[in-house]
Amino acid sequence: MSCILVTGGCGFIGSNYIRMQLEKYPDQKVINVDKLTYAGNLENLKDHEDDPRYQFVKGDISDPALWKELFAKESINNVVNFAAESHVDRSILDSGPFVQTNIVGTQILLDACRSAKIDRYLQVSTDEVYGSLGTEGYFTEETPLAPNSPYSASKTSADLLVRSYVKTFGFPAIITRCSNNYGPYQFPEKLIPLFISNAMNDISLPVYGKGDNVRDWIHVDDHCRGIDDSLRKGKVGEVYNFGGHHEVQNIELTKTLLELLGKPESLITYVKDRPGHDMRYAIDSSKAENELGWKSEIDFRDGIRETIDWYQKNSDWTDNIKSGDYMNYYESQYGDRLSGQ
Ligand code: NAD
Ligand code: TYD
Repeated sequence: MSCILVTGGCGFIGSNYIRMQLEKYPDQKVINVDKLTYAGNLENLKDHEDDPRYQFVKGDISDPALWKELFAKESINNVVNFAAESHVDRSILDSGPFVQTNIVGTQILLDACRSAKIDRYLQVSTDEVYGSLGTEGYFTEETPLAPNSPYSASKTSADLLVRSYVKTFGFPAIITRCSNNYGPYQFPEKLIPLFISNAMNDISLPVYGKGDNVRDWIHVDDHCRGIDDSLRKGKVGEVYNFGGHHEVQNIELTKTLLELLGKPESLITYVKDRPGHDMRYAIDSSKAENELGWKSEIDFRDGIRETIDWYQKNSDWTDNIKSGDYMNYYESQYGDRLSGQ
């Protein structure tokens, strides 16, 4: 039986990826190492916790002793690194954990994987490493790296470390860079789950600036399929971009969410803009399409309806998250902005 190690598998994308792996490959063991930060939630994989092919290990990717023990005990073939601090706004409040997990953690994991001589390593990165676009053009894999937030700077640093391990040590790594994901189990601090949850509770939707920033939205299942295709069919040392071909301004997206939820536009509140706010992201995925045979398959309108439906049916999941720590973050992020209205 082959074995895949997934880090950060209790988060949004990692948990969707593990579910897909367990369903798609009956003869594969999946080990999930997650620190269970505020964003990691064991409930995300509750439906698989009794599966004998699945093993959860609570641990920090920047702990060398954990890796020494785990790699000695298990025959791990492939590693997919999702573990990260992932929210731009939190990186503006405090960049320390981003440097520690995203950069130092990646370096420690890379060293452990190198010693263990694994078959393949995949670094889950982001289109945000390319910086910001004007009204025209797309990010390709050749676009120069130009991160603008502490989050994207930490992800770029990790990508450069991965690249250096390929060049210096012949380490078998691949990097994927994807645009903004949406879907079930996304922590309600990111735009889509936050606005769905606020609207469901008739709380105002804080749109940054004029709401004219553009993001390219992709369903998490399409992204997870792209990661899997890259791991199994991609070429070592290559980068693959993934996007959803669905570019939309934040304000337009906000109005779509309100319309689908049957809530009034009067819930929209314009608040102070995010510092260094990237204007537009748009991805050219033609390399993944041509070389991996990948294509984004989920139409945005269908995917977002299904996602709203999931949040409506699983309001307990969101309510459980909105405890003390979450409210402290909400207050530091939005308190002043909303009281200034
Ligand atoms: P998330 O914040 O929902 O999940 C991150 C997970 O990592 C959590 O379970 C958390 O507990 C875990 N974690 C954090 N620090 C850790 C550490 N030191 N050791 C072990 N586990 C740790 O994030 P997500 O949205 O699922 O993103 C996953 C990955 O995909 C990240 O690397 C992110 O940069 C990348 N990405 C995200 C998007 C997006 O739209 N969400 C798009 C492109 C790329
Ligand atoms: P987010 O989901 O944080 O993803 P990212 O910053 O990684 O793209 O934000 C998506 C867009 O929505 C981004 O342009 C910032 C904007 N935004 C708001 O307008 N209000 C909010 O409360 C949040 C969280 C985001």
